[in-house]
Amino acid sequence: MKSAELAINSDRMMQRISALADIGSTGDGGCCRLALTEEDRIGRDLVVSWMNDLGLDISIDAIGNVVGTWNVGSGKPVMTGSHIDTVRTGGIYDGNYGVIAGLEVIQTCQESGITPVRPLSVAFFTDEEGARFSPDMLGSLVYAGGLGIEEALNIVGIDGKRVGDELQNISYAGSTPCPGEVPHAFVEIHIEQGPVLEAEGFTLGAVTGVQGISWQEVTIQGQSNHAGTTPMNLRHDPAYVAAMLTVYLREIAERFGEDQVCTVGKIDLHPNLINVIPSRATLTLDMRNTDEDSLVDAERLLDTFCFQLEQDEGVSISKRTLARFEPVQFDERVIEIVERHCLSSGKRVRRLPSGAGHDAQMLARVCPSAMIFVPSKKGISHNPAEHTDVDDLVIGANVLLHVMLELADTVFS
Ligand code: GLV
Ligand code: MN
Ligand code: MN
Repeated sequence: MKSAELAINSDRMMQRISALADIGSTGDGGCCRLALTEEDRIGRDLVVSWMNDLGLDISIDAIGNVVGTWNVGSGKPVMTGSHIDTVRTGGIYDGNYGVIAGLEVIQTCQESGITPVRPLSVAFFTDEEGARFSPDMLGSLVYAGGLGIEEALNIVGIDGKRVGDELQNISYAGSTPCPGEVPHAFVEIHIEQGPVLEAEGFTLGAVTGVQGISWQEVTIQGQSNHAGTTPMNLRHDPAYVAAMLTVYLREIAERFGEDQVCTVGKIDLHPNLINVIPSRATLTLDMRNTDEDSLVDAERLLDTFCFQLEQDEGVSISKRTLARFEPVQFDERVIEIVERHCLSSGKRVRRLPSGAGHDAQMLARVCPSAMIFVPSKKGISHNPAEHTDVDDLVIGANVLLHVMLELADTVFS
């Protein structure tokens, strides 16, 4: 068969997406497989069983990243992959699609007698979401040498559990050392998770890069007291300060324009009772921008505002960085290959940056990398309502297939 006629098996791909979605199903179309939980383990075991069915060489590294390699040809592999962990209210496509499409690429080549000139590998990386353990993209960061393994294993999650212990508990503390083997090139396929492709009538996205991300945890210490007896002018109220910060983040986003997004996703009050002024508020701030200077400016404004709030309300505010990644530009040569194969599919393709973080942004540190996007219905993600039409998933996976084969043939100097 000529490689131009190759096409993935859409029924098999959709069956696998559905089988993986059953693990940790939330019953409302969504999925909850927080990193390194029992659900994650069961999901991992299923994907590993599929890798075994394909005869892949499987390696599990010290941070629990799993790489399945079809050892054909010679040289370093062309790698694809993504993640199978989810946020607590996850959809069924975020990450999972990229891993399953990668398996489909390899199986399609095997069945069609196509032998790439290099090995092809498919990976799933640990804790991409960062919803349980910060930073996000933890596994791919360690794979790419951006964080030492000891430091990574000692990270403590939102439930007080340590990464290293949880990896042992689910039997995914592997023996392959980190950082991992540098691939020849890396390409990840993912749902867009935003509204742009659908709104503008494009079926495919050639992703140019990923915006910068700043995650901080802010702790506000005040004075706990009686809600009925404490005059308003004598309060040192962490809940009020948390609310002020939330509003200020919206103001920053509006002032900086549409490239700036800001989110308060988690607020905890202590003791969290109706008639007690809290002693403490803890909240998470997620700020992102495609421009690093703007992101730094936003962080500075926030610092100044926190200082002002401390004076005005008589509280103390401390901050902890949970994740900080500069914007990433993907490799123009890989973007061009992605774009060309998108066009060959006969569908409209748009270049765009990614609003969400992805494992590809970490692999971009070590090898030529880029991504392919398919549209998300109404731009909804990190929500059980996340949806992408089957036709679009299939078109995207076929683009991935041809991109990987071309990358295998490409010499990067
Ligand atoms: C990862 O999904 C992110 O928050 O961008
Ligand atoms: Mn994802
Ligand atoms: Mn996600």
